[in-house]
Parts: sequence; structure tokens; C-alpha cells
Amino acid sequence: MSVSRAAMGILSLTAGLFASTAAWADGEVNIYSYRQPDLIKPLLDAFTKETGITTNVLFLDKGLVERIQAEGANSPADVILTVDISRLTEAKDAGVTQPVVNETINKDIPAHFRDPEGNWFGLTTRGRVVYASKDRVTENDITYEELADPKWKGKICTRDGQHSYNIGLFASMIAHKGEAETEKWLTGLKNNLAKKPDGGDRDQAKAILAGECDLALGNTYYVGLMMTNEKEPEQKEWAAAIKVLFPNAKDRGTHVNISGMALAKNSPNKDNALKLMEFLSEGEAQKIYAEQVFEYPVLPGAEPSDVVKSFGTIKPDELPLADIAANRKKASELVDKVGYNDGPQD
Ligand SMILES: [Fe+2]
Repeated sequence: MSVSRAAMGILSLTAGLFASTAAWADGEVNIYSYRQPDLIKPLLDAFTKETGITTNVLFLDKGLVERIQAEGANSPADVILTVDISRLTEAKDAGVTQPVVNETINKDIPAHFRDPEGNWFGLTTRGRVVYASKDRVTENDITYEELADPKWKGKICTRDGQHSYNIGLFASMIAHKGEAETEKWLTGLKNNLAKKPDGGDRDQAKAILAGECDLALGNTYYVGLMMTNEKEPEQKEWAAAIKVLFPNAKDRGTHVNISGMALAKNSPNKDNALKLMEFLSEGEAQKIYAEQVFEYPVLPGAEPSDVVKSFGTIKPDELPLADIAANRKKASELVDKVGYNDGPQD
């Protein structure tokens, strides 16, 4: 997408946050985030409380890398927060990150959740699970492969096939099964869709409540966010209509992806950026990620929330994240090739 398109989005979304360059002073850290402001606010509030360092958040829904590239050496970006291994590797490959070698962070984050050169770090994981109608689905276990079984014709809802959450899952299928098998599978899944892919993961639970479909693909943490949503209590009903099935629990495990962080290449507040990165990898922040965002913390020994535990125990697919990132492009091409976003044939 163009930089100007991204910049326009930024102007409308962040007016007041990045109000003036005079505000760039010691005691601040600037965060460029693909993560929704609501989700990271409790973490940043805790960081400010502990350190006195103010956080400025620039939320983008696209074009984060292009934005930092366009800003060049004068970029105010200190820390990049994002979801999805592909976006983290994309930031590294685009040259907008710099390596971090930090004892605290490396002690907290297991090696398989971070770039060997320190250009990005995973902070949490999330499973891409099946939301199933409590009323209409008797099965209590399922595989991703079974989603292509004609018995589910007209019964499945998902968001856009090109969304990074689906691309991550489809890329993992390619890594496990090869491209030809995955194309067959994706065609089967497309033919089982109840309607054209649309909305976010939570909307699929809403569609299950409405009786539009029986199964959906969704991330684990959205279930916790819906169950506890006081601002939009109708979401509690969406969550109450579904049960969480962990696909492939009996064989290779459930596909997981990460959210993570990176140090921006020209970070003007590098000391504060490193303090924030250390903070996010340590116990207090990992607990907030678990209890308030309903993700799985990466810190060894940190527990998921009771809400998330109530879904059952996840057995994560051990496929290296690099294999998912490596198959992303092929997955995206397959989504177009099978016409996934056109929805069911008839
Ligand atoms: Fe999300």
C-alpha cells in the first residue's frame, strides 16, 4: 500500500498522541504498533508506573514498515509491536529493526521464540482454534484436515483468507503437507463455507450464535476478550454460543503464532526502548498479557489465565516459526488460486 494511504490513516487515528515534536524529550518511548491500543494499554500503564517513562503509541492497521522506511534516519519509532511471525520477519528483512543482545530479554524469552540475531522477539503465543456451536456440534475434537470434509458443507465461517492469521495457518499446512495437498484442502474448506469470508474472528462467533454457521476459525484470546467484555456485553453471548476445539490435539498439535516486539533501527530513545522491551519480557507484563489480553505468555513458568485454561490444554504445533514465514507467500497465492474469498460455489 502507499505511504500516503498509511499516513492518512495515521493522521486520523493518532491526532493528539503524537501532537508535537517538542514532546520528544527524555523520559519517553515511541511505539509503532499493529496491536490495538486497548490491548496494549494495561501493559504500557504498568511500564510508566514502574519507570516513570511516558509512552507514545502510533497505532497503524497497515503500512508500518513503509512508514518507518519513509521516515528514514529521522524516524521517531523506538519500539515496534506487532502480531504474526511474518510481520516480524518482514520488519527485519525491510531493514527497519536493529539487533538487540540483552541478557534479561534472552533469559526470559525462549530461543525458539526469538530471532537468533535479536532483530525480533516473541512475547506471547495464541492458538488458531476452531470455534464450534455448543448447540449444534457434538464433536469435541477435530483436525484442520476435517474442515474440508463435505459433511461440513455450508457450515463453516472464517474471516478473509488473506488475513495474516489465516495465512499463518495455511502456511503451516503447506509446511506439513506440501502445496498440492494444501490446495486440495483449501478448496474443500472454501466449498464448506457458509458465506463469503468477512469480519474479524469475533464476528464468526457472532455468526455461530445467529445460526449462520456451526464452525469457525478464530484465535484463542478473542474468546477471553468476548467472555469478559463489559464495554460490549453482547459479545459475552457470542462467546457463550461456542466451545473451543483445539485442532489436531491428538497428532501434530494446534497451529500457534506469536505477537512480538522489535527495536527500531534509528530508535532515538534507545535506552528507554530497551527498558520497555525488558519490561514486556518479564513477569509482571507477561502476567498482564495472560490475565488481560488472554494470550499465552512465553516466559517459562508464567501461566495462562483461568479463562484460557478453561478452554482446555493447548498442545502447540512445534513447527518452527521460520517455516511458517517461509511458506507465507505460497499460502497467499493459494488463497487467490482457489478463490477462497469468493466464498462457496453455489
Ligand atoms: Fe487479533
